[in-house]
Amino acid sequence: MDQAKQDELKKAAAKKAAALVEDGMVLGVGTGSTVKFFIDELGKKKAAGLTLKAVVTTSSRSQKQLEGYGFTVSPLSAVDQVDLTVDGADRVDSQLNGIKGGGAALTLEKNVAVNSKKNVWIVDESKVVDHLSGFALPVEVLPISCMQVEKRLADEGLKPEFRLTEDGHRLKTHYGNYILDLKLDRIPVPSGLADYLDHTVGVVEHGLFLNICDQVIIARDNGEIEVRSR
Ligand code: A5P
Repeated sequence: MDQAKQDELKKAAAKKAAALVEDGMVLGVGTGSTVKFFIDELGKKKAAGLTLKAVVTTSSRSQKQLEGYGFTVSPLSAVDQVDLTVDGADRVDSQLNGIKGGGAALTLEKNVAVNSKKNVWIVDESKVVDHLSGFALPVEVLPISCMQVEKRLADEGLKPEFRLTEDGHRLKTHYGNYILDLKLDRIPVPSGLADYLDHTVGVVEHGLFLNICDQVIIARDNGEIEVRSR
């Protein structure tokens, strides 16, 4: 699919999600190229009078864009709970479980998501799979023990590779950590892998988002918008 067509689909999903945003909400706004279109829609809604109680976001990129539309962005620690979070995803399966973190924002994304009453993901059709596959699983690791963690994951056959910047340095996350991308073809038992990673010292967070998404808005190639709910 060409870029223009994919952007059109992302925009359509973003517009549908923007219709869920109501006055007085504490809104969570995720990260990525699909969310960028969602923020554009929020900008339009604000110009038409939308008033939110608070907005939290998961990256400095999204924060900058939101501020450009006149929103004041609060840290997650300043709100009790988020009413609705809209975010993208890198893969979503038939159980509404997903892989996230392609933009390296997984730690804040998961923290916002688990503190949200409702999580909606906006994706184009290319992200939808029966079983989680086709996208490397990001794992955020502390620099202090990254070499030992990389070895441990490699010994488990999880094929970790440090994510690099364009100039060949290890990419640093917002929190100064590194990303190990697990280059797995398929994740047969996501809950088992999540459990293993949750209990690996040195792993800060991972991109398996299980039982978190409540609704996914899928923009299909044929122009249809499909809404799947848990
Ligand atoms: C950011 O870390 C990711 O979880 C994004 O939500 C995800 O990569 C989706 O991004 P796109 O909308 O750009 O595909």
